[in-house]
Amino acid sequence: MTTVTLNDGSDIPQIGLGTWKLLGEEGLRVVREAIDLGYRHFDTASAYGNEEIVGRALADAIAAGDVTRDELFITTKAWQDEQGADAIPSAFRASLDRLGLDYVDLYLVHWPAPARGKYVESFEAIARLQGLGLVQSVGVANFYEELLREIVDKVGIVPATNQVELHPGFSQAPLRALHAELGVTTVAWSPLARGIVLANPVLDAVARAAGRSPAQVALRWAMQLGCVVIPKSANPKRLAQNLAAADFTLNGEQIAAITGLDEKAGFGRIFDDPRTFGNN
Ligand code: A2P
Repeated sequence: MTTVTLNDGSDIPQIGLGTWKLLGEEGLRVVREAIDLGYRHFDTASAYGNEEIVGRALADAIAAGDVTRDELFITTKAWQDEQGADAIPSAFRASLDRLGLDYVDLYLVHWPAPARGKYVESFEAIARLQGLGLVQSVGVANFYEELLREIVDKVGIVPATNQVELHPGFSQAPLRALHAELGVTTVAWSPLARGIVLANPVLDAVARAAGRSPAQVALRWAMQLGCVVIPKSANPKRLAQNLAAADFTLNGEQIAAITGLDEKAGFGRIFDDPRTFGNN
């Protein structure tokens, strides 16, 4: 599995499994199958309500000798109601307990929720957990330019990642440029835009030329932009297909055609705007 080296020297597998909406027995089965297929990077959050399930699948795989903890990269996140200097440590402990782990590889502020005014102290509290060895890397999600600059200025630490909505039609070019300037790795959530992008004719044409599926082309495009991708699938064939996005290369023209969809796709951001989400 290709990895990307974060600004703290840790390596993150470039393809991970997004686990939002993977719940219960299905979640257990999918995470377990994903490990068998070769996934080593799993992305969860307290808000997904599946940390126990993800943790159980990881424990099963470790007990079966299929993988070691060292080989896994596990991300979880603090929700809005877990933000604050006092709340973060206990929220983190609760996530760790549910996951059944003694550290996580990456812990994120899930959404800045700017009107709550707690994102700076929350990121600082996460950085303290890193000092205690409980968190390997520290990051944020859904932060935009002003807030990224603010936490870097006030906390004095550059987040290892900013996990944001990114897919064909919404390439986040200005934010990626800022990430490159600061040394932040972009993690693309919903890189398939919940499947909406897959019927796009430009993607389809590139997919035909590359002999790959539109989903693989969307993932490969984001990877060649330097992003880590965390597509969700509950389907074993698609899980395998998405992992195989590591195995081919798009040419510059194909990359440019897909990036050009920002103006032409007819959709951009399809989920909530982080400037307003979670403020209430
Ligand atoms: P399913 O779970 O049935 O495979 P995203 O992570 O970008 O939000 O996209 C997730 C959605 O895309 C899910 O509905 C998932 O459905 C679907 N999906 C995931 N991988 C593929 C694929 N390779 N081809 C088509 N659809 C996919």
